[in-house]
Amino acid sequence: MTSISIIGRGKMGSAIADIAARAGASIQIVNRSAKPTGDHPEATYAALGDDLTGDLVVLAVPYSAYPNILKHYRDRLGGKVVIDISNTIDFSTYEQPEALIGTSTALELARQLPADVAVLKAFNVNLADTLITRTNGTTATTVLFAGDDAEGKIALADLLQAAGLRAIDAGPLPRSKQLEAIGFLQMVLASTGKTRYESGFTLLP
Ligand SMILES: NC(=O)c1ccc[n+]([C@@H]2O[C@H](COP(=O)([O-])OP(=O)(O)OC[C@H]3O[C@@H](n4cnc5c(N)ncnc54)[C@H](OP(=O)(O)O)[C@@H]3O)[C@@H](O)[C@H]2O)c1
Repeated sequence: MTSISIIGRGKMGSAIADIAARAGASIQIVNRSAKPTGDHPEATYAALGDDLTGDLVVLAVPYSAYPNILKHYRDRLGGKVVIDISNTIDFSTYEQPEALIGTSTALELARQLPADVAVLKAFNVNLADTLITRTNGTTATTVLFAGDDAEGKIALADLLQAAGLRAIDAGPLPRSKQLEAIGFLQMVLASTGKTRYESGFTLLP
């Protein structure tokens, strides 16, 4: 059975927990406070710093929180697949942070982790509502992902498909730059009312 730890229980953390529950995965939800919300009775709850039980570890927190996550877990992620879902946008300027021009959050995360930790980029091109409903317009929600770890990508794709989503491998981890560009543009369009949070970009079959 797939096991997944989701760090963060905001909109995306909750949507990904729903997907994992549909797939029958073993779910751990980790947050700054471990107080159960009751939203996911099938999950176990833990506080940031507790041991992670999942083979897949989703960082469902803002990119600005990554230093805090790494402080707790950098040296405790060996053999796990860490999934970066972040989109960085400075809503005061509608620009990407300068430090990420020419790179990606996923590549920067991988650079900071030991070599035995696999990093995947995934979910950042999915607005949370389309993960909850599992539809985007008239199609099944499609999750694009990128990474260099073949087994990790298979585990993620299996989980997504078991939950009724489409899963598309976009290639090696450098493709995260393109995924992040798409996610960035989608966030700009949604936050300025040019598309709806309930739909967004998708890849037609
Ligand atoms: N919303 C979307 O449609 C969407 C789509 C694609 C990608 N994303 C990406 O998904 C990630 C999460 O977004 P979201 O919409 O789910 O955000 P959210 O609803 O605001 O939830 C953020 C979560 O991160 C936790 N958190 C914030 N700062 C933290 C810190 N310093 N240390 C530890 N935990 C921290 C929060 O904990 P508390 O509960 O304790 O505050 C909360 O559980 C972001 O990287 C975002 O770019 C979002």
